[in-house]
Amino acid sequence: MDNDPFQSLVKKLKIKPGVKHIFLCADQRRAKCCSYEDGMKSWDYLKNRTAELVREEKINVLRTKANCLRFCFKGPIIVIYPDAVWYHSCTPVVIEKILERHIKQGKVVKEYEINLRFLGKK
Ligand code: FES
Repeated sequence: MDNDPFQSLVKKLKIKPGVKHIFLCADQRRAKCCSYEDGMKSWDYLKNRTAELVREEKINVLRTKANCLRFCFKGPIIVIYPDAVWYHSCTPVVIEKILERHIKQGKVVKEYEINLRFLGKK
C-alpha cells in the first residue's frame, strides 16, 4: 500500500473521510439549463469559494465542472455527493447558501432543493 499512487493524490487534494463533492453544470457544449455566461459565473464563484474554504477553514470539499447533469431546467444545477442532493437556480448567491448551510452545517437548503422524495428518498 505504501506505493499506492492514489495516496499522494489524496494528500495533495487534502481529502479526508466524509468528503463532499459538488458537481456543477457549467461550460456545457449546449447550454440548456441556463446561459453559458451564467453557468461560468457560477463556476468561477464555486471554484474560488471552495478553494478558500479548503485553504482557510479546512473544509473537506471538492468541486467539479460537469458538462450537463441531464436535469436541464432552472439551472445552473448542482448535485452533491455522497448526499445525492440536487439543487436548482445555483447563482453565486445560492451557491453561498449551499456552502454555508449544506457543506458547513450539513443542512439541506430546502428552498433550492430539487425534491426527489417522491422516489422514496429520505
Ligand atoms: S445543461 Fe445544465 S443540466 Fe443540462
